[in-house]
Amino acid sequence: MNVSLLANSLVGSEIIKIGNEVNEMKRKGAQISNLTIGDFDPSIYPIPDELKEAIVTAYNEHQTNYPPADGVLALRETVSGVLKSRYALEYNANEILVSGGSRPLIYATYLALIDPGDKVVYPAPSWNNNHYCVLSSANGVAVETSVENNFMPTGDQLKPHLKGATLLALCSPLNPTGTMFSAEQLLEICDLVLAENKSRSADEKPLYIMYDQIYSLLTFGKEHVNPISLRPELRDYVIYIDGISKALAATGVRVGWAFGPEVIISKMKSLLGHIGAWAPKAEQVAVAKYFRDEAQVDTFLKEFKGAVQKSLDTLYNGFQEMKKEGFNVDAVVPMGAIYLTLKIDYIGKTTPAGDLLKNSADLNFYLIHEAQTALVPFSAFGNDESVAWFRASVGGCSLEDVYAMLPKIKTALSKLK
Ligand SMILES: Cc1ncc(COP(=O)(O)O)c(C=O)c1O
Repeated sequence: MNVSLLANSLVGSEIIKIGNEVNEMKRKGAQISNLTIGDFDPSIYPIPDELKEAIVTAYNEHQTNYPPADGVLALRETVSGVLKSRYALEYNANEILVSGGSRPLIYATYLALIDPGDKVVYPAPSWNNNHYCVLSSANGVAVETSVENNFMPTGDQLKPHLKGATLLALCSPLNPTGTMFSAEQLLEICDLVLAENKSRSADEKPLYIMYDQIYSLLTFGKEHVNPISLRPELRDYVIYIDGISKALAATGVRVGWAFGPEVIISKMKSLLGHIGAWAPKAEQVAVAKYFRDEAQVDTFLKEFKGAVQKSLDTLYNGFQEMKKEGFNVDAVVPMGAIYLTLKIDYIGKTTPAGDLLKNSADLNFYLIHEAQTALVPFSAFGNDESVAWFRASVGGCSLEDVYAMLPKIKTALSKLK
């Protein structure tokens, strides 16, 4: 091969493969309800008007040169203030790093902590940790979770894998499930990490937690919890990932931030400085101004979250109705983010054309063609393809789309033998 081992070992995204199929069918004129991508249709979910205006103003004021490597100070100060008032977390501007969305910060966390072969523990399903393990040559250990705990990892499930690990990657509200940690669940895990670190000598690398809370402002009544609020002693070991991509429906604006111990944040800054993954300066200046006004943000969130929750609840209720009618389906109560966890237990059935649905991907493609509804099987998030659970993302479709897809799913499932 004429490229690197790393380049050769990259695995394409299953979500993009499904997206391509959907786009191809749309090109041929099909009307598909696309519940695949964790993104928003801006005609349904636009960014806040005041943010858009602030971005335009920043460009008009010529905020177009390089931003500082760790982010515009005003934005880091805004983030510091919001962390204090919304989460009671004390982080100063030196402990905050801004980047072009949160993805580069996740990658930088891996690069700053992981040596080749180091163990990284993460739950399955979860989003993209498998890919970051490949990129950082980590030894990734996917720990399977179960519906009994809303697919959130438990202390008991993680415990056997933490010995000698370098990173535990956690996320709440979780992509792909839309479920969240309770304080008790997270506390148990925090205590395991503290115990593991106590057992290590000073010259060993400790076990760190990467805590991705990018959906923390998109919750539906349940309180978001985080490791440091529960166990302040963990402060040297936790790197948080956050940003505006999801909370402000601003996936294309590209502003994210990480916060954590200054020694690690400064290494991540150096790494990202070389990569050049900064957020555009005008966007940083605008977010610094917009995000500081919490009343304004809350007004936006109320309407935005209300619409997202309505779609999720409608889909959830539709699946519960189908379950009552005898279909082999189920759904987990939506708690946060833009996702619903759906069970469609029809693997092993045969289509009217005589094709056996061997795995979750076959079932998914059957639903794309027969019900014009595209989901993402949990196999895209680290689970085996025999797992009959799927992610439905509602950011790209309207409430009307959700209502319209339910009878189509029913009809398609009724045809299976
Ligand atoms: C859990 C989680 N973290 C991070 C990201 C990446 O966010 P960004 O668009 O800010 O890079 C996503 C995007 O889907 C996500 O689901």
